[in-house]
Amino acid sequence: MHDKDLLPESPIAGLVPTMNNTGWMTESLDEISTAFTDFAGGRDDEVLDMGCAYGIATLAALDKGARVFACDIEPRHLEVLARRVPVAARDRYRSKPGALPGVAFDTASFGAILAARVLHFLDGDAVEQTVAKMHDWLKPGGCLFLVADSPYTGPWKDQADEYERRKAAGEPWPGFVDDYARYLPATADPAEHPTFINPMDPDILRRVCEAAGLEVLEARFLAGSTRWSSDRDHAGVVARRRDD
Ligand SMILES: C[S@@+](CC[C@H](N)C(=O)[O-])C[C@H]1O[C@@H](n2cnc3c(N)ncnc32)[C@H](O)[C@@H]1O
Repeated sequence: MHDKDLLPESPIAGLVPTMNNTGWMTESLDEISTAFTDFAGGRDDEVLDMGCAYGIATLAALDKGARVFACDIEPRHLEVLARRVPVAARDRYRSKPGALPGVAFDTASFGAILAARVLHFLDGDAVEQTVAKMHDWLKPGGCLFLVADSPYTGPWKDQADEYERRKAAGEPWPGFVDDYARYLPATADPAEHPTFINPMDPDILRRVCEAAGLEVLEARFLAGSTRWSSDRDHAGVVARRRDD
């Protein structure tokens, strides 16, 4: 079956709407997600795509020869993804629904983990719990690839000045927006959006990874994939679990 019959229709080129009001899946990979697929394709170890949606990164990693475990809070996303996995790759694919930060995997299960544009749906404590758990899920030497929406994208970019002020004042989560609805256009239905959002910058991702015991290999802003994008739409980090 073709993607156009499997994926929800989208009013925005380059983005596919989620089924659970958690924004959009991109139709192209950012640089950190691409690095995950390259890394995953070169390893025998299974890798985890957390918050996979309809599988933009999972499918690319499978195409490069990886063994992928896909996980998402929304079972309907996984149902669509299962139908998109090519027959020839099905023996290298498995999935389960699960919600961060509570979802569980065994210690040292994965050679790499990607969480692309999912952590900003969690508050600070939940982000810290999640990254600590991801450290444990990685095999020694395995790599964590994180991408989060930044304070410079989405409807909340209107408060970027406030984020910069709070960051300068040393607040740990300076991009946190506890009243998302305030930034939505009058035409939008707040019930179709999260109640809060926690945009991050590369310094925050670096701090959380280091607190979890990971070695940070790179941390930087990333460009988005829509025609409105700036070169700071997302924050990305690659971090490595140290050898035991
Ligand atoms: C904005 S989409 C990103 C999809 C894809 N990773 C990408 O980069 O385009 C966020 C995805 O994370 C999932 N998600 C949101 N909160 C989650 C949570 N607490 N635990 C697991 N998945 C979650 C959503 O269901 C959705 O599929």
